Amino acid sequence: MAIFGKKDEKEEKIIPELLPKHVGFIMDGNGRWAKKRGLPRTFGHLEGAKNFRKIVRYCKDIGLKTISFYVFSTENWVRPADEISAIMDLLRDYLDDVSELLSEKTRAVFLGDKSVFPDDIREKMIQTEKDTAEYDEMTMLLAINYGGRDEIARSARILAERVKNGEISPEDIDEKAVDSCLYTAGYPDVDLVIRPSGELRLSNFLIWQCAYAEYYFTDVLWPDFSPRELEKALIDFQGRQRRFGGV
Ligand code: IPE
Ligand code: IPE
Ligand code: MG
Repeated sequence: MAIFGKKDEKEEKIIPELLPKHVGFIMDGNGRWAKKRGLPRTFGHLEGAKNFRKIVRYCKDIGLKTISFYVFSTENWVRPADEISAIMDLLRDYLDDVSELLSEKTRAVFLGDKSVFPDDIREKMIQTEKDTAEYDEMTMLLAINYGGRDEIARSARILAERVKNGEISPEDIDEKAVDSCLYTAGYPDVDLVIRPSGELRLSNFLIWQCAYAEYYFTDVLWPDFSPRELEKALIDFQGRQRRFGGV
């Protein structure tokens, strides 16, 4: 309505100052995308990977600083072996193409235990982190073999070791200490978590970091989650009232 011209404008455009500091993406719905087309699930993962690249570029274009993606969870290992192997091959392809990250000046950091991966994948992950470590315009956190509970348990283990070695005492273990031992140490908490595909859950994604996140759910499947869909999510986010327990 013209009378609310200003308000409409605010609602329809991304306002750079109101961009979330950290957006988390749960890339779900690849399998259903393929099934709808009568294709094997692996085709869905291929399309999902293409879309991931598109969304990363868009995030950079609009000036997001920290983005995270749920790529493969600690629970996803129960899937059929051929599906897991197809996902690992897509990961290999992506890691082979580090030039894309270099040209986008994007830092890549992997969240999760890398030790379980085949040597070639683990080495490529470490190399990619090294090759992009200097970039500070945008950081992309890739949660692979990642689980939120696993991450918190790991943090507890690290702190317990420090107590055992006499470096700290139990009283030193506060929220800041736990936070500093997470894979995401040094990065802001998630402000906005986006989950396509119609599921209304976190599925163990950044559960500590999402304590005060805003949630955006859509029925659109991940391979169809376009830059326009992300724009809608960001516009929705900027209209939310966050109180963090205050009034
Ligand atoms: C997300 O898509 C990708 C991974 C979990 C690796 P899904 O494979 O879970 O797709 P749906 O949920 O079966 O449609
Ligand atoms: C969450 O999706 C994991 C990733 C997107 C990598 P899932 O498809 O594994 O989640 P559930 O099983 O539906 O909760
Ligand atoms: Mg799924």
